[in-house]
Amino acid sequence: MSKSPRILVFVGGICKDSINKKLFGFFKEAAGETLEFDEFEIKSLPFFSQDIEDNPPSEVVDLKARIKACSGVLLITPEYNRSFPGVLKNALDWGSRPYGQNLWSGKPAGLIGTSPGAIGAFGAQNQLRQVLNFLDFRTMNQPEFYFTFPRELENGKLPHSANEFLKSHPRCQGITNRNETYSDREAKNVYAGDKAAEIDAA
Ligand SMILES: Cc1cc2nc3c(=O)[nH]c(=O)nc-3n(C[C@H](O)[C@H](O)[C@H](O)COP(=O)(O)O)c2cc1C
Repeated sequence: MSKSPRILVFVGGICKDSINKKLFGFFKEAAGETLEFDEFEIKSLPFFSQDIEDNPPSEVVDLKARIKACSGVLLITPEYNRSFPGVLKNALDWGSRPYGQNLWSGKPAGLIGTSPGAIGAFGAQNQLRQVLNFLDFRTMNQPEFYFTFPRELENGKLPHSANEFLKSHPRCQGITNRNETYSDREAKNVYAGDKAAEIDAA
């Protein structure tokens, strides 16, 4: 059985050719076996209603069990009208209710996303971050990751500069060297900078 942290993944794009699903594919490949990903199909969930929150359908029971079992959450969102898709909000709402039983509280969360627009889902992530704060996630603030799809792809892959940036950022080195603590990495002064712009400097 895997000893890697289990990360529950929510992809906000639900169409079959979703570019956010593709982006998740790149991250899965980059992480290798250091993380175990559990992708939740958000389109399986019914619309949230307080009429059924005390006796929810099996899909919601499944969601809640998987939230409890995970070490952290990764949200991957496209931009819809300068915000994130309602179907993603629906999943977050289910995990937060009934009142007083917010299962997200204290969960580490990472946030990435892509859209075809030049700002690479910035609007979506910016609004989603506000909701994650309210739900009491421990959201990773840096590095930020905005990606214009497909313009910033190189040969169908994340650009070399993006991979190098991720490898050199201390908060991402858990992926490349899990034996070092965060303080070890800070001490090495390998901080690569916070600007998402570095990612698309290719
Ligand atoms: C209702 C709707 C609103 C959209 N609004 C934006 C937007 O504000 N900014 C943007 O860059 N793209 C916008 N798009 C384009 C989507 O980001 C694009 O279709 C993307 O491929 C959706 O992600 P997915 O492929 O992972 O499903 C919008 C698309 C839809 C359907």
